[in-house]
Amino acid sequence: MWGALSPVGRSAQSGGYFRQPFRTAESELRSWFVEACTARGLRLEGDGLGNLVGWWGEEHATRPDERLLTGSHLDSVLDGGAYDGPLGVVSALAAVDRMRERGVVPSRPIGVSVFVEEEGSRFGLACLGSRLLTGATTWEHARELRDRDGVALPDALAAVDLPGLDPGAGDARDLLAGVTTFVELHVEQGRALVDLGHAIGVASGIWPHGRYRFEMTGTADHAGTTRMEDRADPMLTYAMTALAADEQARLTGARATFGRIEVEPNGTNAVPSRVTGWLDARCEDEAALSELVAAVERRAQQRAETDGTAVRVVAESVSGLVTFDPALARHVAGDHAVGDWPVLPTQAGHDAGVLSTAGIPTVMLFVRNPSGVSHSPAESATVPDCLVGVDALADTLERLCR
Ligand code: GLV
Ligand code: MN
Ligand code: MN
Repeated sequence: MWGALSPVGRSAQSGGYFRQPFRTAESELRSWFVEACTARGLRLEGDGLGNLVGWWGEEHATRPDERLLTGSHLDSVLDGGAYDGPLGVVSALAAVDRMRERGVVPSRPIGVSVFVEEEGSRFGLACLGSRLLTGATTWEHARELRDRDGVALPDALAAVDLPGLDPGAGDARDLLAGVTTFVELHVEQGRALVDLGHAIGVASGIWPHGRYRFEMTGTADHAGTTRMEDRADPMLTYAMTALAADEQARLTGARATFGRIEVEPNGTNAVPSRVTGWLDARCEDEAALSELVAAVERRAQQRAETDGTAVRVVAESVSGLVTFDPALARHVAGDHAVGDWPVLPTQAGHDAGVLSTAGIPTVMLFVRNPSGVSHSPAESATVPDCLVGVDALADTLERLCR
């Protein structure tokens, strides 16, 4: 399975992946998933928005109303790694294969899921698919989202042939009906498991985080003839804001990143009229996150006064603190032949966080990442660790069926 996926959406220059939702590479992955489910006799369900589930074991389940879901996402960030998302989907299918080899007849229907636009790389809203499924975001809100080219979400959906599905955007069947547990396996996105010497970890929770659009406007003018004291240059406001965000995060043990900016008109010999920067901010608790963003905005406004520019801040996507069901985490983490799996917090967002917030008891398993790098082509996991991950997921699903 890994070999079949690895060329899809891969850049020849960087070796990274460009798998934005409703574009060619991601559609190819969705077709691959439909084929993989069909080959295994899993009954496919979709919501017309790109979220998919392949169901196994419904006919023999003795607990048909306690559905168990496991999966992740197939989309990537721009120039992302191979593992963030697809490892959870491939491992879920492989875990079903493994359980069948072991002769397991699941007492609960087990679904393998793919959630659409987890990264928010095209429409800006992280975990779009799982938010729509859980009602955390409404279709009325989502239908207004536009990508960088101005394409609205319903038009992007209409432009693709969603394989095996009825692409009636907005008319979602309830894919989560009867789901009482969710398990997401994911590549680890830091180096905690490397340092602890474990191949597998279990998530305790997710830091609150958000994306905030800083719009800074000034006055376009000639780069040569405009005296320095006569300028209203939003690039200066942006530069000071980025430094302030970095300083504020370092002082408070938080994370703050400006990873994307747009400059208008983006000419070498003109003072820009507008700079838009996206702040990604993450903190241990929600109050600290609000305070961090407020502090960065204050610094931006102060600098704007000096520069003669204006600043407006819009929150595009905010996710609260997630604490995964602690008893479930302990149950899954404990009592393995190799000893307990470590239980760790993460600063990365996941569909698992959205489902947990919606009240579905949720577990996350992490697979060790030797590079510790993620959201980059350098993201990594070894084949032996990935296979340990498949066994860990199969063991976890079996436990949850007992
Ligand atoms: C998603 O991977 C995020 O943490 O931004
Ligand atoms: Mn990611
Ligand atoms: Mn992910």
